[in-house]
Amino acid sequence: MSPTWVQLAYLVAALCFVLALKGLSTPKYARAGNLLGAAGMALAVVTAYVHGAVHNGLLILLAVAAGVVVGIPAARSVKMTAIPQMVALFNGVGGAAAALVALTEFLAVPHGSVLFQVATVLTVLIGSVSFSGSVVTFLKLQEIMTTRPVLLPAGQLLGLGVAAVSALLALSVVLTGSSVLLVLLALAGLALGVLFVLPVGGADVPIAISLLNAFTGLAVAASGYVLANTLLIVAGTLVGASGTILTRLMAQAMGRPLTNILFGAFKATSVAAATDEQRTVRAGTVDDVAIMLGYAHSVLVVPGYGLAVAQGQHAARELAQVLEQRGVTVHYGIHPVAGRMPGHMNVLLAEADVPYEHLKELDDVNPGIGSVDVVLVVGANDVVNPGARDEPSSPIYGMPIFDVDRAKAVVFMKRSMRPGFAGVDNSLLYNPKTTMLFGDAKESLTKLLAAVKQV
Ligand code: TAP
Repeated sequence: MSPTWVQLAYLVAALCFVLALKGLSTPKYARAGNLLGAAGMALAVVTAYVHGAVHNGLLILLAVAAGVVVGIPAARSVKMTAIPQMVALFNGVGGAAAALVALTEFLAVPHGSVLFQVATVLTVLIGSVSFSGSVVTFLKLQEIMTTRPVLLPAGQLLGLGVAAVSALLALSVVLTGSSVLLVLLALAGLALGVLFVLPVGGADVPIAISLLNAFTGLAVAASGYVLANTLLIVAGTLVGASGTILTRLMAQAMGRPLTNILFGAFKATSVAAATDEQRTVRAGTVDDVAIMLGYAHSVLVVPGYGLAVAQGQHAARELAQVLEQRGVTVHYGIHPVAGRMPGHMNVLLAEADVPYEHLKELDDVNPGIGSVDVVLVVGANDVVNPGARDEPSSPIYGMPIFDVDRAKAVVFMKRSMRPGFAGVDNSLLYNPKTTMLFGDAKESLTKLLAAVKQV
């Protein structure tokens, strides 16, 4: 049993974590929430160190120093568009840490209580799944390996087989206390993580990360039982619960059940559904688009991942300001899964001081979209793909979209005819209402701004 001061410090840290999550749920308090969470974590680390420094104090300090040296520069230098892969990597490390701690504790005390044994096998199994699964999601998002689903021959059967072997190994460890079997369980967990994530592809990878994040939370909570540490149980449960809620919200925003996302890998045939058909696109110039905007009364900007890549948010805001000064109503359509992480577009546009009340959600925009004169689709693709609404065979069928094809005119700003994250062809590019303005979003917006000022 830990001394009272340790328990009190952990209680305060746990409260910080809960309030941090509360703060993170609104843009106004998100920054304060983040700081509070970090303060809670600092308190927890210092308490654990002071309480446990008698053993291996130097090693702990070295580990903390290594974490600081890697973590701070990585978090400071990462581009916003690469945050999902960083989350994947850090999440994997968390799972591995939980598994390794449980393994080490087990080697020191192989014949603990049944609760200890059960908690150990759960930590090792879930932590290993989380580690290898996260590494594969990292490789996919970083495009070190293909982002498409990798379908092994009899992959599902193989997955079920490894899951069954893992369950048998877990049971055997609890019954026998064998460390060798526990190491085999860790290896089976690693294989399971890889098999679990390989078939997930395209736009579904961020959801897999969020689910693995929930897994890591569970592994950490279970490791709290192994180490008899209440704070780990609380913190792990919070991560597990919030990861699960986020996973569900993202799946809902994509209009698909979670089981379909995880086990219904995108069919490879769907990618180039229309490539053998010769279709024409209308490419325009900035002057063409400036004239269209000159006649417009209402403009909707639909930003997507490409705007974040191009860092064109300030140029978009300046263009909107010039149009507003001329009496044009400008709104931004923010899709819940535009970009690569929840709230990506909100954060991006907040950086450029776009007023929050100008950001509109699907339900605010779609009913009146027929009266919008020009929609500027800036670096977005999947979130405006009519196939998600009209084509039951489309892999993204069911995902709510901005019905921009029902507006009076559409301008698409992207660099090429390449598809979006889901790898699915977009018929809107070939719609007679659509004008393509090819090029980097920031460059196009800057040129457009200059041209609009001339009109
Ligand atoms: P995408 O469908 O990925 O389209 C982005 C477009 O930006 C691409 O077509 C690309 O075309 C263009 N682009 C890239 N760099 C550019 C640049 N420098 N300048 C101009 N254009 C550029 O993005 P979206 O519409 O935002 O959709 C998000 C996707 O992520 C959806 O499939 C969604 O389901 C998935 N997803 C998101 C989340 C969250 S929480 N955000 C979670 C799960 C899944 P070019 O290469 O031709 O330029």
